[in-house]
Order: sequence, then C-alpha cells, then structure tokens
Amino acid sequence: MSNNNLPPVWNLVKKHAVFPEAKHDEIARYNFLANLNRFLSTVISPGNKIVYEKRVRPNFQKEHGRDFQDREEVHKAMKQDEYYQVWSAFRRCAMEMRQQAGRSMVLRQANKLAQKAQDLNQGKDTLKLNPNLKIPYYVQAVDHHCMPGSYYTELIEDDVTAAANYDSGLFVTTAGLLGRMNDGGGRAIVQWLKNEFPKFQPKRILDIGCGLGHNVIPIAQAYPHAEVIAIDVAAPMLRYGHARAQDLGIKNVNFIQLDGANTGFVNESFDWIQTTMFLHETSSKALHQIMAEIYRMLAFGGLTLHIEQPQYTKDMDLYEQFIRDWDGYYNNEPFWSKMHDMDVKEIMLQKGFQENAFIQIGVKAVNDILESQSIDEVVEDYGRSPIWNVFGAWKS
Ligand SMILES: C[S@@+](CC[C@H](N)C(=O)[O-])C[C@H]1O[C@@H](n2cnc3c(N)ncnc32)[C@H](O)[C@@H]1O
Repeated sequence: MSNNNLPPVWNLVKKHAVFPEAKHDEIARYNFLANLNRFLSTVISPGNKIVYEKRVRPNFQKEHGRDFQDREEVHKAMKQDEYYQVWSAFRRCAMEMRQQAGRSMVLRQANKLAQKAQDLNQGKDTLKLNPNLKIPYYVQAVDHHCMPGSYYTELIEDDVTAAANYDSGLFVTTAGLLGRMNDGGGRAIVQWLKNEFPKFQPKRILDIGCGLGHNVIPIAQAYPHAEVIAIDVAAPMLRYGHARAQDLGIKNVNFIQLDGANTGFVNESFDWIQTTMFLHETSSKALHQIMAEIYRMLAFGGLTLHIEQPQYTKDMDLYEQFIRDWDGYYNNEPFWSKMHDMDVKEIMLQKGFQENAFIQIGVKAVNDILESQSIDEVVEDYGRSPIWNVFGAWKS
C-alpha cells in the first residue's frame, strides 16, 4: 500500500467548543481504526470481486446452469465463501470497535460535555426541543451502524454523548474522506448549486434529519442571508449541533426537534428542502410521508435535493448491488436495502413533482484535507467513499 493510501491522522479533525477531549491512547485507537478501515476498503475489499469472478460465480453457474438473477442470490453464494466472511467480519468489527472507542471516550466526560453545550445553548431561541415528541419506531428499534443507543438515547440530563460520539468517530469510518468538519456532502451540494443555478437565492431553507448539523452548516454559510431550519427527532444531536454552530459563529440556523414526516410548517414556506444521508434511516411508510410533506412545504419554484448512496438500478451490475448492500445485512441499517431498491422518482411524481423537473446527479465530497491525494484518486469502496447520488426536483 502506498503512502497515498494512508488516511489522514485523526488530529486533523477540526475541534470546537463541544468536541470531546481525547487522550493519547484514544487518539491512537481512532488512528488505528481509520487505518484498518482504509486497509479493508482499498486492499482487502477488491479481493471480493476476484473471489466472485474466479470462484463463486463459476461455481454457481456450474451448479445451476445459469448466472445469478439478483443480488440476493449473489449474497447467498458469497456468504459461504471464506474470503468474504473474513472481510465482512473485519468490517463489522471495525465498526463495533469505532463505536465502543467513541462511546467510552465520551461517557467519561458526559457531564462536562453536557455543561459545555448548555453554556452555549442557554438563553438562545435558535434551539427548540420538544421532550414530548414521539421518537419514530424505526429510530428506536435499532442501534444504527452499531451506535449504542442510536441518536436519541439520553443517559443523563441534557445528554449530548450520542452526538459527541458520532462527531468524533465519523472521521474514522470514512478515513477522513469527508474533510475536517465531516461536511464534504454539504460543501459538494453548495458547490454544485452555485455553479448550476447561480441566480437561485433561497430565503428559507429546511434540512430534515440534520443530525448534529455537519452538512447544513456549509449551506448556511453559503447563503448567509437565508433563514435555515434544521430539524431532527433526536435531542442530543440538536443540543450538540446548536452549541457547535454557536461556537463556529453560525447564527442563521435554527435547530428544532421535529419529525420530518409531520412538521407543522405552513404550506409552500421553504425555497430549498435538503436531506443528507437521511432517507435510508427511515422506513417505507415514513419516506412516503416525508416526500408528501416536502412537496407540501416547498414553494413553487423551490428545490428539494437528497444526498444518498446510489440506488440499485437495473443497469447496476449485480456484484455492485450485492457489495453495496452490505450495510443492510451487517451494519444495523434495516431500511438500507429496501430504500435503495425504491423508485424514488416515481414516489416523488406521486407526491406532485413533475417528471421534467426531476434531477439526478452525482457529486463528490469537497474535502479540505486531502493534500497529497485528489478526490478523483479515491478508491470506490461501495459504501464509504464520498461519492454520492443526488436526486430531487424543482417544484413547478
Ligand atoms: C445519518 S443521520 C443524518 C446526518 C445528517 N443529515 C448530516 O448531514 O450529517 C440521520 C438523522 O436522522 C434523524 N431522523 C431519523 N428519522 C427522522 C425523522 N422522521 N425526522 C427527523 N429526523 C429524523 C436521526 O435522529 C439522525 O440524527
């Protein structure tokens, strides 16, 4: 492996006032895991394709007298193969280890972090929490990507540990490919929009499932005169995200605890509605509700965009579908497979969007730390690399 393939060191993550403090050994653990992830995705994972072509596929063809018909058949055959088993087990363990490393680091400073967030949040009307909000069952049912307690669990009063864990650990899983602030997606979408539609000046922007705000902050920075509303169901993410934004000097974002499927915002009141790596963590019913809600809330002439990993279209190679589907089976992402199978364009048309207003593009993360390696050299690892599918529509 050339040096170019080494991930950047974790210390390059930009720190802010609510960022957890990391000790020497904790940093070493994160760096080890980032290296392990990069090694798995660039050196070990390509071997899966070789095993598929040279061993698993020919054996299947010999036994069945035909080729694979769908990705489930590929999965069934590949999971019998030792090479795939080892890679998959390592990948799962790397995720478990990241979550446990982050969790132990933030738990030992839980009270301190809650206090820091509270100091920055107190007295500000740009953070609105609703302790009575019903957390959707699909958020409660599973520890998303092995994250203990997922996004919403609160262990102490004013808890922010779920967010502090997510913020400090994401760099490890992506091996730094989202940039110092983990905001490569938000930066990419802003760059695309400013290039393609320089005259578009949204006055009101909504980000649904904002998390701790990684990708809504570049949007707020790019449109400083816009009123930006970032909603999420999880109070720890919002508390931490609001405090982080305050510390970064971002004043035009309101963080509100709301369910994207039923927001209560008035009709046609937003010019841009954004989601980033969000829809795949909902459910089939919720996705339909959220799309209907987006159409209702969007002003005529307004835009909605959704950043996700690519859909499994008919023209996507079966091996690629299968390898991209790993998260659905082994990374506590129960809606992943179903969501990537859906005809999202058809769903948007059902909710009222016009066929000729549909948008489908690919964007790559805008990354501020890849000094010796351009984003074009990043190896596609089918799930972690910051190369996304963006779909959406103008409301006409
Ligand atoms: C993967 S995170 C999204 C990350 C974020 N968009 C970003 O760019 O960094 C998914 C988030 O969606 C939130 N969420 C899930 N269902 C929701 C819903 N129905 N309404 C609002 N937020 C929701 C979760 O609490 C979680 O914070």
